[in-house]
Amino acid sequence: MQYDHAHPVCSGQNASPRQSKLLARADAYISQRAGMVEQTFRHTYHAMPPVGWMNDPNGLCYAFGKYHVFYQFHPYAAAWGPMHWGHYTSNDLIRWELQPTALAPDCAYDKDGCFSGSAIVKDGMLYLMYTAVADGRQTQALARSSDGVHFEKMGQVIAEKDIPRDYSVADFRDPYVFVRNGVYYCLIGSKHVDGDGAVLLYRSDDLMQWRYVGRAWKDGRTHNGTYECPAFASFGNVDALFVSPQFMDCDGDRYENIHSNLYMLGKLDLQTGEFRRTAECETDGGFDFYAAQTLTLPDGRTVMTAWMQMWDRSFPTAPHGWVGALTLPRELTYRDGKLFQAPVREIEAYRTDRVSYPQAEVDGTLRLDGVEGNTIELSFDLDLGASARAGVKVFCGDGCEVSIYYDRTKELVCFDRLHMGTLIKAAPGEHDSVLRRAHIRAEGGRLHFRIFLDVSSCEVFLGGGEQVLTGNVYSAGKGIEFFSEGGKAFVRNVEKYTINVPRT
Ligand code: FRU
Repeated sequence: MQYDHAHPVCSGQNASPRQSKLLARADAYISQRAGMVEQTFRHTYHAMPPVGWMNDPNGLCYAFGKYHVFYQFHPYAAAWGPMHWGHYTSNDLIRWELQPTALAPDCAYDKDGCFSGSAIVKDGMLYLMYTAVADGRQTQALARSSDGVHFEKMGQVIAEKDIPRDYSVADFRDPYVFVRNGVYYCLIGSKHVDGDGAVLLYRSDDLMQWRYVGRAWKDGRTHNGTYECPAFASFGNVDALFVSPQFMDCDGDRYENIHSNLYMLGKLDLQTGEFRRTAECETDGGFDFYAAQTLTLPDGRTVMTAWMQMWDRSFPTAPHGWVGALTLPRELTYRDGKLFQAPVREIEAYRTDRVSYPQAEVDGTLRLDGVEGNTIELSFDLDLGASARAGVKVFCGDGCEVSIYYDRTKELVCFDRLHMGTLIKAAPGEHDSVLRRAHIRAEGGRLHFRIFLDVSSCEVFLGGGEQVLTGNVYSAGKGIEFFSEGGKAFVRNVEKYTINVPRT
């Protein structure tokens, strides 16, 4: 795309003609090309770009009677490029309806991209706060809408002069805005000049004028990278700060991706900005989970979704004309010093073709009639019995399979996609792109598995959601096989549903 760098800063009440033209061009391109996208690995119940590239979820919100999720979007190629904001709406967080593209980079201050950000409703208007990128400089800008579909840019609201000294202007991004007692706060991912990743807190009374409060977090774990995409939620007296640290070291079975995801529990001091951490967990131990955003729903539930992909690897669907999807939105609950995750209960309305088995013995391998498919929910209680390893193989067929199993001696659940039939090139510095693990106790040799497959994705909720492993799988098979090694195991309360979400 061509950008006119001399274009004047746009602000005020109306979307500029240039913005409208760029959005119309993106939408015309989408309607022309969406039908040409190769369907093989397209999901059926996950949000994904109609064509082109998607990364982070942005602006997850409830406004004008609907849920909205925006996303980092490059319509014109299945590769990252000048960032637009794509837009979906939904009545139930499962069935997404494509909306016109919401933002395109066109102003002097955002000409190189409208990067990640968040949304908030104020006085009946929907506001998007996003990172404006121009000539390597990152600032925060605002856009607003009175109908939830068309947005007008309002200009920069946190400019370069508002960045505290000693923090990089090249790494100052992903504002997460929230309100407490009528005051607006915003957490921004950042990097100190000493190379440490950081998260900064700002406050505002009107979303337009912002004042720096203080540093919420800073440490050297990002190895000269940024704490990207902060998000925030409160569970009673406990606050949770979600971040996506770049380049964090692997720590045994945790943080095995080159860029990680974690949440800290503790308390955010709104006066000083400081986040006092009492606990910390990897949010999802799988291959493909980044840039999580959270939203408190009108009914009080806290929901999270994330980009179901990972930077710096090869992307098998790129030659198909699309890349990237969002995880199932997940309800978060706080219990016993950690967060538990479950897919939003609205998914249950789309269950069909129930197949169930109260109990089955697994001695070697076991197939159960009717338990198969690649757009399904599968749950079971694994009883390890006398086995050393037991679990399930999914996406089986044509010599391909993906194993999800419990390793008793190591007390680990493993998600092994080595034999999925497609090679994903690991990110530079990543030890592999085929095995991810989660440490979890199988009390009494038993563990609950709840698995969602959607053509090319697999989300594994363990032990009631205390650990989750998410990964993409590019395989043709639909077979499912339970297995045990080193002795007999049992599967109990096996339940399989097809998830059938009509396309919009
Ligand atoms: C995270 C991220 C953000 C940035 C966006 C750009 O995945 O790098 O920090 O705003 O993607 O697309």
